[in-house]
Amino acid sequence: MIAIGSDHGGYALKQEIIKHLEERKITYQDFGCYQETSCDYPVYAKAVAKAIIEKECELGILICGTGIGISIAANKIPGIRAALCTDCFCAEATRQHNDANILCMGGRVVGVGLACKIVDTFLDTPFSNDERHIRRIRLIED
Ligand code: RB5
Repeated sequence: MIAIGSDHGGYALKQEIIKHLEERKITYQDFGCYQETSCDYPVYAKAVAKAIIEKECELGILICGTGIGISIAANKIPGIRAALCTDCFCAEATRQHNDANILCMGGRVVGVGLACKIVDTFLDTPFSNDERHIRRIRLIED
């Protein structure tokens, strides 16, 4: 199960990503927002982060205008490793190296086609489980 959320700046892209998840028959839970009215990105960052920490969902996707505010907010939650990605190289590397559990994107930054490829790369890439990466992730949390 994938947790997905956005503010108003990421709403339009979130709707496109949801369509893409449905085409791929990937189950998801949409934590809002549910319309383009101005709203506060930390609310949705916290809702998606909570679903991951409580193991309701395995991975998350968060979108705001730039992807910056929502990634900063999500990364305040212990155990969350939210990665702001604008390309597939970073999406792949952050799963392999950082075991990132939330993908963040900017709805005003990336187009729909690229965003869907970034989502596919993020969801389809496993963590490497390399000792050095496990050690570094532990050091983040200590
Ligand atoms: C909202 O206008 C915008 O500030 C927000 O979506 C995001 O880009 C914040 O980092």
